Amino acid sequence: LTASCVLDPTAVVAPVRRRTFGSFVEHMGRCVYTGLYEPGHPLADEDGFRTDVLALTRELGVTVVRYPGGNFVSGYRWEDGIGPREGRPRRRDLAWHSIETNEMGIDEFARWAGKAEVEIMYAVNLGTRGVQEALDVHEYVNHPAGTALSELRRANGAAEPYGIRLWCLGNELDGPWQTGHKTAQEYGLLAAATARALRSAEPGLELVACGSSSSAMPTFGAWEATVLEHAYDAVDYVSCHAYYEELGGDLGSFLASAVDMDHFVDSVVATADSVGARLRSKKKINISFDEWNVWYMSRFMAREPDSEWPVAPRLIEDEYNVADAVVVGGLLISLLRHSDRVTAACQAQLVNVIAPIRTEPGGPAWRQTIFHPFAKTAALARGSVLRTGLDTPTYETARHGEVSLVDAVATHDGHGGDVAVFAVNRGQSDPVELAVDLRLFDGDLRVAEAWTLADDDIRATNTHDEPERVVPQPTRLLSLDGRTLRVVLPPVSWSAIRLT
Ligand code: AHR
Repeated sequence: LTASCVLDPTAVVAPVRRRTFGSFVEHMGRCVYTGLYEPGHPLADEDGFRTDVLALTRELGVTVVRYPGGNFVSGYRWEDGIGPREGRPRRRDLAWHSIETNEMGIDEFARWAGKAEVEIMYAVNLGTRGVQEALDVHEYVNHPAGTALSELRRANGAAEPYGIRLWCLGNELDGPWQTGHKTAQEYGLLAAATARALRSAEPGLELVACGSSSSAMPTFGAWEATVLEHAYDAVDYVSCHAYYEELGGDLGSFLASAVDMDHFVDSVVATADSVGARLRSKKKINISFDEWNVWYMSRFMAREPDSEWPVAPRLIEDEYNVADAVVVGGLLISLLRHSDRVTAACQAQLVNVIAPIRTEPGGPAWRQTIFHPFAKTAALARGSVLRTGLDTPTYETARHGEVSLVDAVATHDGHGGDVAVFAVNRGQSDPVELAVDLRLFDGDLRVAEAWTLADDDIRATNTHDEPERVVPQPTRLLSLDGRTLRVVLPPVSWSAIRLT
C-alpha cells in the first residue's frame, strides 16, 4: 500500500500554537495527591512536589496546565486552599465522591507550575458560585497589592501576582452530572456577566466559555449557539471536550477517532461563526479543546456506586496500550491541522488520572505509551502548520463511514528551516509506504530524526514492572532522493520525522 503528499512551504494554515500542548491537573483521584504532590516521597522537594513527576512534565513538553478541575471545580471553594495548612478544611468532593484535604491550593499549584515551567489556565466555579467568587480569586491571584485579597496572597508568601491570563468560566455546565448544572440560557448569562466583571478588573484576560462536554450531548450545537449569543463579545474561546475509547471491539473506528475530532471542531467553528455573522461581529471565537484523550469511560460508568468517602482514591487510572498511543498521536494531528481556530488544548489529565505519567505512592513514576506521541509532537512541531493534502487509501468504519488509512500533518519552521511530518497508519494489517514530496523547499533536506511507535502486540503497555516496554523506535526510512522522502508506516503506528 502507498500514500503520498506534497508539502508546500507557502501553504500555511496557521502558526503552531504552543498552547496546543496543554495538560490538565484536577483535584481528582491521585492526580494531585501522590501524583504531583507527595511530601515524604524520597524524591519530593522542599514543597512536597515529586521531582520525578516535575522532570517528566518538562520532558513531555507541556506548555499550559488547566487547574483545578474539571467536575471538581463546580463545587470548589478556592479559599479553602490558602493560608496555613493546619487551618484548611476537609470537604466532601461531590464530583468524585472523595474527601478533599485542601493541602494543595492555588499558591502551591502556582509554585508547582513555576517549577514545571508551565502557564496556568485557571477554572472558576460557576456551578455553585458566581461573579463575586470569580472576582475574588482573580483579585487574590492577579491583583498586584494594596487590596484585601492581594495582601492576603502576599501574607501567604507570594509577593508578586501570578499573572494568570487564561481563565475557564466554569466546567461542563451542560452536563446533568455537573454540580450546579444549568441550561444554556442560564449559563450564557452567567458566563457573560462573569466575563464582563473579570474584564473590568483586567482587560487583557483570555476567557473561555464552556462548550459542550461532548459532541454526543443532546444539546450539542444548540448549547454553543445560545451561550455565544449571550457571551460572544465578552469571551475569546468556546471549549470542546472529547474522550475516545474502543467500543465493542471496533478497533477500526477507534483508530479513526481523529475523524470525529475534526468534525467536532469544524462544527463548533461553524456554529460560532454563524452566531458572529448574526451579531454582525468581526470578532472570531477560537476553540480551547481543553479536555481530550483516550478514556475507557464505559468501564468507569460500569463500576459499583461509591459508598465511601476516600482521600485520593485510585480513579480512572487507565493503562494505555500501543493502539491508544496511535490514537493520541492522531488526535494531536487533528489539533495541529486546526491551528487556525484551535489555539489552546489540554490533554486530560497529567498524572495518574487518564494520564501520560503514572506514579506509585512512595514508588517510581513512568511514561505511559501515550506519553511518547505527545512529547515528540510538542518537541518537533515548530513554526507553521502546513496544509497537508494526502493521497491515501481509505477503509470503511462503523462509526465514521469511509476514512483515510493514513493521516498526516506537517509543520515548517521558517527560522530553523526544519520540516516535521507526523503520520499515522490506521490500518491493522499492512504497512504503508508514505512518499513526502519536498521539491517546493529550498535546498536539500536531510532526516535529522525519525521515530515510530508500533509493536507486534498492539495491546502492549508500559507498567510499573516494565516501564520501557513501549518506546518510539527509529522509523524505517526507505530513501530521500529526488527530493522525495519515502518511509514505511507499520500497521497501527504513529510516526514523527524531522528534516533539516
Ligand atoms: O477529566 C475527567 C473529567 O471529565 C472532568 O472532571 C470533567 O470535566 C470531564 O467530564
